[in-house]
Amino acid sequence: MVAPSFQVLVCGGLLVLCSIEALDNGLALTPPMGWLSWLRFGCNIDCDAKPTECISENLIKRTADLMVSEGYLAAGYEYITIDDCWLDKDRGPDGRLVPDPKRFPSGMKALADYVHSKGLKFGIYEDYGSSTCAGYPGVEGHEALDAETLASWDVDYIKLDGCNTDVRNMNKAYPAFGQLLNATGRPIVYACSWPYFLEVNHMKPNYTAVAEHCNVWRTWVDIRNSWASVVYTMNWMASNQQRLAPFAGPGHWNDPDMLVIGNSGLTVNQAKVQMAIWAILAAPLHMSVDLATIQPEFKAILLNRDIIAVNQDKLGKQGLRVWSETFSWRHKFQVWQRELSDNCYAIAIVYFGHHHTSSFFTHEELRIPRQNYLLQDLYNIETDRVLEAHKTLTFSMNGTDVKFYKFIPQAFDVFVKQI
Ligand code: GLA
Repeated sequence: MVAPSFQVLVCGGLLVLCSIEALDNGLALTPPMGWLSWLRFGCNIDCDAKPTECISENLIKRTADLMVSEGYLAAGYEYITIDDCWLDKDRGPDGRLVPDPKRFPSGMKALADYVHSKGLKFGIYEDYGSSTCAGYPGVEGHEALDAETLASWDVDYIKLDGCNTDVRNMNKAYPAFGQLLNATGRPIVYACSWPYFLEVNHMKPNYTAVAEHCNVWRTWVDIRNSWASVVYTMNWMASNQQRLAPFAGPGHWNDPDMLVIGNSGLTVNQAKVQMAIWAILAAPLHMSVDLATIQPEFKAILLNRDIIAVNQDKLGKQGLRVWSETFSWRHKFQVWQRELSDNCYAIAIVYFGHHHTSSFFTHEELRIPRQNYLLQDLYNIETDRVLEAHKTLTFSMNGTDVKFYKFIPQAFDVFVKQI
């Protein structure tokens, strides 16, 4: 992932050609989108007891089929990634990684070929340590061979976890593995868990280095199948946004973890909140749900093109929580805002109450210039409306929910024509 690139820089007062080490694989110019097995299917390896739920080539193939036939690929979800528990417990006689022969009888190259034949990209999980978080062989001590093996299977995305290793080595280990991936010559998105392991061990990550060496990095603990976990993750991202958000941009993204949407833990409204906030955060969008049984209202959220467009906005600027006041009469609201490439703003107002409420926010509270806007409701509940420069944004909600608008600046004459 790390290729030396040459840039004209002012070094020591002289204009010279300097060699810098920078992430230069040209990948993930917008946040990666796809499907990841972990949240929904975990480490289920018992294909006899649960044939449709175990981590196996059958699961990957049927999910790949559904990603195409149900329109997920067309909407932008292109990576299908097998998380932990795909490996055999032992390496092969040649020292190479071996997939579990019972669950992946055709081998990983054949599975990658199948995924590619569908127009999708193929992702896989490994771990920098001696073993993965679930106890399968890790890459430590076999780094070069494993990078070469994964590339030989035509892997397009690697989620490299960091269990079972000395955290103090990570600042060297993650860049080094990225260099090995780069050396294979295959373009591979590099998703690191490096800063997460430093954060939980109270060691301050150097996010400049992380953003130079990784396309995507997990920020904090695993998201779980519950609303409490989604809210906890949102609040962690907001509490740390000043430190983290500046490092997001084309080619390098903060990853608050998978979309829980479509599983038992979230209601439809809660799922709408997660989709809106992950769009504001410019977060990777990894579904983790059984696409064969997902209910249509959740599927519609995942496939909402206007919201995906916010997530994929080419400016690549991570949005922020701009309003959250614990002691205010509006303490049950949060406001999140993201600047977009077309001078527009995406604004999500999240309501955590359980009863009908009406409220308002001013332009200043929304942190947007005081001008006229056309408001497009990205969940298509309201018809488009105009917010005048001297008015406040008013709205009402019936219980936990999100209002998610695109604020489109309006020149005065356009505004006059519309009213
Ligand atoms: C860690 C990661 C998860 C998942 C599991 C697999 O907990 O954070 O996303 O990959 O390992 O064991």
